[in-house]
Amino acid sequence: MWGGRFDEGINALMARFNNSFPFDQRMWREDIRGSMAWARQLAEAGILSAEERDTLLAGLEAVYAEFDEGRFVAHTTDEDIHTAVERRLGEIVGSVAGKLHTGRSRNDQVATDVRLWTLGAIERINDGIRALQQALLTQAESAGNALMPGYTHLQRAQPVLVAHWLLAHFWPLQRDRERLVDCAKRAAVLPLGSGALAGTPLAIDRMALATELGMATVSPNSIDAVSDRDFIAEFLFCAALIGTHLSRLAEDMIIYSSAEFGFVVLADAYSTGSSLMPQKKNPDSFELLRGKSGRLTGHLVTMLTVLKGLPSAYNKDLQEDKEPLFDAADTLELALPVAAGAIATAQFRYDRMRAALDDAMLATDVADHLVARGVPFREAHRVVGKLVREAEQRQVTLSALPLDVFRVAHPSFGDDILQVFDGNHSVAQRCVPGATGPDAVQAQLVQARQHVLR
Ligand code: ARG
Repeated sequence: MWGGRFDEGINALMARFNNSFPFDQRMWREDIRGSMAWARQLAEAGILSAEERDTLLAGLEAVYAEFDEGRFVAHTTDEDIHTAVERRLGEIVGSVAGKLHTGRSRNDQVATDVRLWTLGAIERINDGIRALQQALLTQAESAGNALMPGYTHLQRAQPVLVAHWLLAHFWPLQRDRERLVDCAKRAAVLPLGSGALAGTPLAIDRMALATELGMATVSPNSIDAVSDRDFIAEFLFCAALIGTHLSRLAEDMIIYSSAEFGFVVLADAYSTGSSLMPQKKNPDSFELLRGKSGRLTGHLVTMLTVLKGLPSAYNKDLQEDKEPLFDAADTLELALPVAAGAIATAQFRYDRMRAALDDAMLATDVADHLVARGVPFREAHRVVGKLVREAEQRQVTLSALPLDVFRVAHPSFGDDILQVFDGNHSVAQRCVPGATGPDAVQAQLVQARQHVLR
């Protein structure tokens, strides 16, 4: 392919080191699609006759079919997907195949292929996230007004609706989808026509080419176009953050499924057993989801490290962009449906969650009771702190303290203070948008529902 100026063949290990075909062959669809569009535009520009164009298109169709049906036979000399397709095209249509690469370089070709591939991956991952959101939403809807302890620092903090906790995992995923859509905008910029770095000398209608390939616009600078892998770094950041969100969800599910919490029972289908301990049922689905986040973060770091220190235009280092990209997409395409399935089939034990609420979690509500009677919050906080200590010393719960103990602590305590010791009362106080009150959560469910519909 580039042998003209070489005397000697390539060293066998160097060939193995150099060849990207083993991993970039999966871009065969994008590569052939790009070549077909290029052939059409070459004919438009008068470089190919209509007959030559049709011969090339038919040949490319044939190569497509070979890949599609698993019949494509690779040669050891196939350096990458681009050379493999062109080599095979030559075998099928003869010397006219040599005209396909006119005015084009593998530099603008590979950049185009990877963009097309990334756009496809973004769509599939977006769908995967939506399905997980749907599973969380369905569970949130079934939870009704069930209550659970809300935690900060993993310490019991305040009662919240189970639905509210579930939806706390919905919104990060919504932002992930928005980020992917935004990333797709910058991926949908066509590099083809940039040649090796200086731009093609042919009168190619790049905008027509872009439209044919489903891209929104064309790159404004050919040097930038062949080196720009920002869209991959962005995609990998999106993937790493999705991984982080899955990890957080997983961590909640893992601790909540422990005997100590007992808030959730995972379906057998998403758990595994122990080869040694017969009683064990392990939350492997969620542990792997938590673990995969490390791998996804690693891919982002790999990409940024490859890009750092490169001079402008194309450098072979850029070939290292594909494996992290492909693996990140593959990882998520499996992780997301597993997460959705594990959430959808989990059984939440609302009774156990409710039983884990305790009076101390309502201490803030006791302070709020004083605040409603004109006591400054700082003072109320101190008063209730003392009551909590008093209860601790007497080894009783806060609500078991006699009313006169409350009155001694502060004269503003009303007779109705005991009403405060009710989780439902507590959440009902919280009705601003975004809070855990049942009405606010209802509104949140409606809002969430709209996002999974599109
Ligand atoms: N396999 C190469 C890659 O993945 C394709 C581009 C090669 N370009 C070149 N000038 N050698 O980046």
